Amino acid sequence: MNLFLKKILSKSPLVSADWDLLLKQSHRVEPGMTSAGFGGRNSVNHLDSYGTLVQNLKERLAEVEFGRPLRILDLACGDGHLLYQILQKLPSVDLAVGLDFSDEELALASNTCRAAIQSGRAEFLFGDARQMPFPDAHFGAVTSHMALMLMHPFELVRNEILRVLQPGGVLVALIASQNSEGHYAETLDVLHQFFKANDIDWSPSKQFREARLNSVEGWRELFPLSDFEILEFRKIQFEFAFTAEETWELFRPTYMVAALPPDLKIKCEQTLKAFADSKKPQPGQKFEYPMMMIAGKRKKAAEKSI
Ligand SMILES: C[S@@+](CC[C@H](N)C(=O)[O-])C[C@H]1O[C@@H](n2cnc3c(N)ncnc32)[C@H](O)[C@@H]1O
Repeated sequence: MNLFLKKILSKSPLVSADWDLLLKQSHRVEPGMTSAGFGGRNSVNHLDSYGTLVQNLKERLAEVEFGRPLRILDLACGDGHLLYQILQKLPSVDLAVGLDFSDEELALASNTCRAAIQSGRAEFLFGDARQMPFPDAHFGAVTSHMALMLMHPFELVRNEILRVLQPGGVLVALIASQNSEGHYAETLDVLHQFFKANDIDWSPSKQFREARLNSVEGWRELFPLSDFEILEFRKIQFEFAFTAEETWELFRPTYMVAALPPDLKIKCEQTLKAFADSKKPQPGQKFEYPMMMIAGKRKKAAEKSI
Protein backbone atom coordinates (compact mmCIF):
# COMPACT_ATOMS: atom_id res chain seq x y z
CA MET A 1 0.00 0.00 0.00
CA ASN A 2 0.99 3.56 -0.65
CA LEU A 3 2.98 5.06 2.27
CA PHE A 4 0.66 8.06 2.49
CA LEU A 5 -2.36 5.79 2.95
CA LYS A 6 -0.41 3.69 5.44
CA LYS A 7 0.30 6.80 7.51
CA ILE A 8 -3.35 7.87 7.33
CA LEU A 9 -4.43 4.40 8.47
CA SER A 10 -1.98 4.46 11.36
CA LYS A 11 -3.00 8.09 12.15
CA SER A 12 0.65 9.24 11.98
CA PRO A 13 1.28 12.96 11.38
CA LEU A 14 1.82 13.83 7.72
CA VAL A 15 4.47 16.15 6.30
CA SER A 16 4.90 17.75 2.89
CA ALA A 17 7.26 14.96 1.76
CA ASP A 18 4.50 12.38 2.36
CA TRP A 19 2.18 14.32 0.07
CA ASP A 20 4.90 14.52 -2.63
CA LEU A 21 5.29 10.78 -2.35
CA LEU A 22 1.55 10.27 -2.84
CA LEU A 23 1.65 12.42 -6.00
CA LYS A 24 4.75 10.68 -7.37
CA GLN A 25 3.49 7.18 -6.64
CA SER A 26 0.08 7.92 -8.16
CA HIS A 27 1.68 9.22 -11.38
CA ARG A 28 4.06 6.29 -11.44
CA VAL A 29 1.15 3.84 -11.40
CA GLU A 30 -0.99 5.78 -13.86
CA PRO A 31 1.05 8.22 -15.96
CA GLY A 32 -1.17 10.18 -18.35
CA MET A 33 -4.13 9.91 -15.98
CA THR A 34 -4.92 13.64 -16.02
CA SER A 35 -5.20 14.01 -19.78
CA ALA A 36 -7.11 10.70 -19.93
CA GLY A 37 -9.58 12.08 -17.36
CA PHE A 38 -9.96 15.67 -18.59
CA GLY A 39 -8.99 15.65 -22.28
CA GLY A 40 -12.03 15.91 -24.54
CA ARG A 41 -14.50 17.05 -21.82
CA ASN A 42 -15.76 20.27 -23.32
CA SER A 43 -17.04 23.48 -21.83
CA VAL A 44 -19.81 25.52 -23.46
CA ASN A 45 -17.38 26.94 -26.02
CA HIS A 46 -16.62 23.37 -27.24
CA LEU A 47 -13.04 23.46 -26.01
CA ASP A 48 -11.77 21.09 -23.34
CA SER A 49 -9.77 22.46 -20.41
CA TYR A 50 -6.45 22.12 -22.28
CA GLY A 51 -7.86 23.90 -25.37
CA THR A 52 -9.38 26.61 -23.16
CA LEU A 53 -6.00 27.27 -21.57
CA VAL A 54 -4.23 27.39 -24.96
CA GLN A 55 -6.86 29.83 -26.28
CA ASN A 56 -6.42 32.08 -23.25
CA LEU A 57 -2.62 31.98 -23.58
CA LYS A 58 -2.94 32.92 -27.27
CA GLU A 59 -5.03 35.98 -26.36
CA ARG A 60 -2.60 37.02 -23.61
CA LEU A 61 0.44 36.68 -25.88
CA ALA A 62 -1.28 38.85 -28.51
CA GLU A 63 -1.62 41.67 -25.95
CA VAL A 64 2.10 41.97 -25.17
CA GLU A 65 5.27 42.60 -27.18
CA PHE A 66 7.77 39.89 -26.26
CA GLY A 67 11.49 39.93 -26.93
CA ARG A 68 12.89 36.90 -28.77
CA PRO A 69 13.26 34.08 -28.14
CA LEU A 70 9.78 33.62 -26.67
CA ARG A 71 10.08 30.82 -24.10
CA ILE A 72 7.07 29.23 -22.38
CA LEU A 73 7.22 27.07 -19.26
CA ASP A 74 4.50 24.52 -18.51
CA LEU A 75 4.75 23.91 -14.79
CA ALA A 76 3.98 20.32 -13.74
CA CYS A 77 3.55 19.40 -17.41
CA GLY A 78 2.55 15.78 -16.80
CA ASP A 79 2.42 13.79 -20.06
CA GLY A 80 2.90 16.89 -22.25
CA HIS A 81 -0.74 17.06 -23.41
CA LEU A 82 -0.89 20.86 -22.98
CA LEU A 83 2.57 21.59 -24.39
CA TYR A 84 1.81 19.52 -27.49
CA GLN A 85 -1.19 21.75 -28.20
CA ILE A 86 0.74 24.94 -27.44
CA LEU A 87 3.39 23.86 -29.95
CA GLN A 88 0.71 23.11 -32.58
CA LYS A 89 -1.43 26.21 -32.10
CA LEU A 90 1.10 28.92 -31.22
CA PRO A 91 3.82 29.19 -33.87
CA SER A 92 5.21 32.33 -32.19
CA VAL A 93 6.52 30.18 -29.32
CA ASP A 94 10.23 29.56 -29.92
CA LEU A 95 10.80 27.15 -27.04
CA ALA A 96 8.29 25.25 -24.88
CA VAL A 97 9.72 23.77 -21.68
CA GLY A 98 7.92 21.22 -19.50
CA LEU A 99 8.95 20.70 -15.87
CA ASP A 100 7.64 17.88 -13.67
CA PHE A 101 8.80 15.68 -10.80
CA SER A 102 7.39 12.46 -12.24
CA ASP A 103 9.81 10.49 -14.44
CA GLU A 104 6.96 8.39 -15.81
CA GLU A 105 4.95 11.44 -16.93
CA LEU A 106 8.08 12.99 -18.47
CA ALA A 107 8.76 9.82 -20.46
CA LEU A 108 5.27 10.07 -22.01
CA ALA A 109 5.76 13.79 -22.66
CA SER A 110 9.06 13.19 -24.47
CA ASN A 111 7.37 10.64 -26.66
CA THR A 112 4.34 12.85 -27.45
CA CYS A 113 6.50 15.86 -28.35
CA ARG A 114 9.39 13.93 -29.93
CA ALA A 115 9.37 15.87 -33.22
CA ALA A 116 9.43 19.25 -31.42
CA ILE A 117 12.28 18.06 -29.16
CA GLN A 118 14.27 16.97 -32.21
CA SER A 119 13.76 20.33 -33.90
CA GLY A 120 14.85 22.16 -30.71
CA ARG A 121 11.41 23.67 -29.99
CA ALA A 122 10.60 21.62 -26.87
CA GLU A 123 12.44 20.42 -23.77
CA PHE A 124 11.29 18.37 -20.79
CA LEU A 125 13.10 18.54 -17.48
CA PHE A 126 12.83 16.68 -14.21
CA GLY A 127 12.55 19.21 -11.41
CA ASP A 128 10.57 20.70 -8.58
CA ALA A 129 8.30 23.72 -8.93
CA ARG A 130 9.52 24.92 -5.51
CA GLN A 131 13.10 25.19 -6.75
CA MET A 132 13.19 25.54 -10.50
CA PRO A 133 16.36 24.93 -12.51
CA PHE A 134 16.06 28.15 -14.56
CA PRO A 135 17.72 31.57 -14.51
CA ASP A 136 15.76 34.67 -13.44
CA ALA A 137 13.37 36.25 -15.98
CA HIS A 138 13.79 33.34 -18.39
CA PHE A 139 10.18 32.91 -19.59
CA GLY A 140 7.65 35.12 -21.37
CA ALA A 141 4.83 32.94 -20.04
CA VAL A 142 4.22 30.23 -17.45
CA THR A 143 1.25 27.90 -17.84
CA SER A 144 -0.08 25.22 -15.54
CA HIS A 145 -3.03 22.85 -15.97
CA MET A 146 -4.59 21.22 -12.90
CA ALA A 147 -1.46 21.29 -10.79
CA LEU A 148 -0.84 24.52 -8.81
CA MET A 149 -3.37 23.62 -6.09
CA LEU A 150 -1.35 20.47 -5.32
CA MET A 151 1.91 22.24 -4.51
CA HIS A 152 2.92 22.68 -0.93
CA PRO A 153 4.00 25.06 0.50
CA PHE A 154 2.68 27.21 -2.34
CA GLU A 155 4.65 30.31 -1.25
CA LEU A 156 7.85 28.67 -2.57
CA VAL A 157 6.18 28.04 -5.94
CA ARG A 158 4.84 31.61 -6.03
CA ASN A 159 8.37 32.95 -5.44
CA GLU A 160 9.74 30.79 -8.25
CA ILE A 161 7.00 31.76 -10.73
CA LEU A 162 7.67 35.45 -10.09
CA ARG A 163 11.42 34.85 -10.36
CA VAL A 164 11.45 32.97 -13.67
CA LEU A 165 8.84 35.19 -15.39
CA GLN A 166 10.17 38.18 -17.30
CA PRO A 167 8.75 41.52 -16.13
CA GLY A 168 5.57 41.83 -18.23
CA GLY A 169 5.42 38.04 -18.62
CA VAL A 170 2.11 36.22 -18.06
CA LEU A 171 0.89 33.33 -15.95
CA VAL A 172 -2.12 31.40 -17.32
CA ALA A 173 -3.40 28.53 -15.19
CA LEU A 174 -6.39 26.29 -14.67
CA ILE A 175 -6.90 24.72 -11.26
CA ALA A 176 -9.54 22.46 -9.76
CA SER A 177 -12.30 24.45 -8.12
CA GLN A 178 -13.09 23.50 -4.57
CA ASN A 179 -16.69 24.70 -4.91
CA SER A 180 -18.27 21.45 -5.99
CA GLU A 181 -21.90 21.25 -6.96
CA GLY A 182 -24.61 19.01 -8.37
CA HIS A 183 -23.86 15.49 -9.49
CA TYR A 184 -20.14 15.97 -8.90
CA ALA A 185 -20.73 16.81 -5.23
CA GLU A 186 -23.13 13.87 -4.82
CA THR A 187 -20.55 11.48 -6.28
CA LEU A 188 -17.91 12.95 -3.99
CA ASP A 189 -20.17 12.14 -1.02
CA VAL A 190 -20.40 8.54 -2.23
CA LEU A 191 -16.63 8.42 -2.49
CA HIS A 192 -16.23 9.81 1.05
CA GLN A 193 -18.61 7.15 2.34
CA PHE A 194 -16.58 4.49 0.52
CA PHE A 195 -13.38 5.66 2.22
CA LYS A 196 -15.07 5.80 5.61
CA ALA A 197 -16.47 2.30 5.18
CA ASN A 198 -12.93 1.11 4.47
CA ASP A 199 -11.54 2.92 7.50
CA ILE A 200 -9.61 5.52 5.53
CA ASP A 201 -9.82 9.11 6.80
CA TRP A 202 -8.85 11.27 3.84
CA SER A 203 -9.32 14.65 5.53
CA PRO A 204 -5.59 14.99 6.43
CA SER A 205 -4.79 15.22 2.71
CA LYS A 206 -6.66 18.56 2.61
CA GLN A 207 -3.84 20.18 4.59
CA PHE A 208 -1.62 20.05 1.49
CA ARG A 209 -4.04 21.67 -0.96
CA GLU A 210 -3.61 25.44 -1.16
CA ALA A 211 -7.15 26.70 -0.51
CA ARG A 212 -6.27 30.36 -1.12
CA LEU A 213 -5.89 29.65 -4.84
CA ASN A 214 -9.64 29.21 -4.98
CA SER A 215 -10.58 32.85 -4.46
CA VAL A 216 -9.42 36.09 -5.97
CA GLU A 217 -8.81 37.43 -2.43
CA GLY A 218 -6.56 34.42 -1.81
CA TRP A 219 -4.60 35.15 -5.00
CA ARG A 220 -4.19 38.77 -3.88
CA GLU A 221 -2.83 37.55 -0.56
CA LEU A 222 -0.41 35.14 -2.21
CA PHE A 223 0.72 37.36 -5.12
CA PRO A 224 1.45 40.89 -3.81
CA LEU A 225 -0.12 43.69 -5.83
CA SER A 226 3.28 45.36 -6.13
CA ASP A 227 4.59 42.42 -8.20
CA PHE A 228 1.59 40.86 -9.90
CA GLU A 229 -1.55 42.07 -11.67
CA ILE A 230 -4.52 39.70 -11.85
CA LEU A 231 -5.97 39.95 -15.36
CA GLU A 232 -8.69 37.33 -15.09
CA PHE A 233 -10.22 35.03 -12.48
CA ARG A 234 -13.32 33.05 -13.39
CA LYS A 235 -14.98 29.70 -13.02
CA ILE A 236 -15.43 27.49 -16.09
CA GLN A 237 -17.61 24.39 -16.08
CA PHE A 238 -16.50 21.36 -18.08
CA GLU A 239 -19.11 18.81 -19.04
CA PHE A 240 -18.96 15.09 -18.35
CA ALA A 241 -21.52 12.64 -19.66
CA PHE A 242 -23.75 11.35 -16.90
CA THR A 243 -22.60 7.74 -17.35
CA ALA A 244 -20.90 5.15 -15.15
CA GLU A 245 -17.82 5.10 -17.37
CA GLU A 246 -17.25 8.88 -17.41
CA THR A 247 -17.99 9.18 -13.70
CA TRP A 248 -15.19 6.70 -13.04
CA GLU A 249 -12.87 8.48 -15.52
CA LEU A 250 -13.40 11.69 -13.53
CA PHE A 251 -12.59 10.20 -10.14
CA ARG A 252 -9.97 7.59 -11.11
CA PRO A 253 -7.17 10.19 -11.38
CA THR A 254 -7.90 11.78 -7.98
CA TYR A 255 -4.97 10.96 -5.78
CA MET A 256 -6.61 9.16 -2.91
CA VAL A 257 -8.34 6.89 -5.45
CA ALA A 258 -5.27 6.44 -7.67
CA ALA A 259 -3.23 5.43 -4.60
CA LEU A 260 -5.61 2.69 -3.46
CA PRO A 261 -4.29 -0.86 -3.56
CA PRO A 262 -5.69 -2.80 -6.58
CA ASP A 263 -8.44 -4.70 -4.69
CA LEU A 264 -9.83 -1.54 -3.08
CA LYS A 265 -9.55 0.35 -6.36
CA ILE A 266 -11.77 -2.23 -8.06
CA LYS A 267 -14.29 -1.96 -5.23
CA CYS A 268 -14.20 1.82 -5.49
CA GLU A 269 -14.79 1.64 -9.25
CA GLN A 270 -17.77 -0.68 -8.71
CA THR A 271 -19.23 1.63 -6.04
CA LEU A 272 -18.97 4.79 -8.14
CA LYS A 273 -20.27 3.11 -11.30
CA ALA A 274 -23.21 1.58 -9.42
CA PHE A 275 -24.05 5.02 -8.04
CA ALA A 276 -23.89 6.64 -11.49
CA ASP A 277 -26.09 3.86 -12.95
CA SER A 278 -28.60 4.29 -10.13
CA LYS A 279 -29.16 7.87 -11.30
CA LYS A 280 -30.59 6.43 -14.55
CA PRO A 281 -28.96 9.01 -16.84
CA GLN A 282 -30.83 10.07 -19.97
CA PRO A 283 -28.85 9.92 -23.24
CA GLY A 284 -26.86 13.12 -23.61
CA GLN A 285 -27.39 14.18 -20.01
CA LYS A 286 -24.34 16.06 -18.69
CA PHE A 287 -22.96 17.10 -15.36
CA GLU A 288 -20.50 19.85 -14.75
CA TYR A 289 -17.04 19.86 -13.25
CA PRO A 290 -15.82 23.31 -12.16
CA MET A 291 -12.32 24.69 -12.65
CA MET A 292 -10.90 28.17 -12.04
CA MET A 293 -9.10 30.02 -14.83
CA ILE A 294 -6.49 32.51 -13.68
CA ALA A 295 -4.42 34.86 -15.78
CA GLY A 296 -1.99 37.39 -14.38
CA LYS A 297 1.05 39.43 -15.26
CA ARG A 298 4.35 40.07 -13.51
CA LYS A 299 4.57 43.83 -13.26
CA LYS A 300 7.37 45.77 -14.93
CA ALA A 301 9.41 48.11 -12.71
CA ALA A 302 7.53 51.16 -14.04
CA GLU A 303 4.15 49.59 -13.14
CA LYS A 304 5.10 48.70 -9.59
CA SER A 305 3.55 51.74 -7.90
CA ILE A 306 0.20 51.18 -9.70
C1 LIG B 1 -2.91 16.49 -11.97
S1 LIG B 1 -1.37 16.29 -12.73
C2 LIG B 1 -1.44 17.44 -14.07
C3 LIG B 1 -0.49 17.11 -15.21
C4 LIG B 1 -0.63 18.01 -16.45
N1 LIG B 1 -0.42 19.41 -16.12
C5 LIG B 1 -2.00 17.80 -17.06
O1 LIG B 1 -2.90 18.55 -16.71
O2 LIG B 1 -2.15 16.89 -17.89
C6 LIG B 1 -0.27 17.09 -11.62
C7 LIG B 1 1.18 17.05 -12.04
O3 LIG B 1 1.91 17.88 -11.15
C8 LIG B 1 3.17 17.28 -10.92
N2 LIG B 1 3.68 17.94 -9.71
C9 LIG B 1 3.04 18.09 -8.53
N3 LIG B 1 3.78 18.78 -7.65
C10 LIG B 1 4.93 19.10 -8.31
C11 LIG B 1 6.10 19.83 -7.94
N4 LIG B 1 6.25 20.37 -6.73
N5 LIG B 1 7.09 19.98 -8.86
C12 LIG B 1 6.97 19.43 -10.10
N6 LIG B 1 5.88 18.72 -10.49
C13 LIG B 1 4.88 18.57 -9.61
C14 LIG B 1 2.85 15.81 -10.83
O4 LIG B 1 3.98 15.01 -11.03
C15 LIG B 1 1.82 15.67 -11.97
O5 LIG B 1 2.43 15.37 -13.20
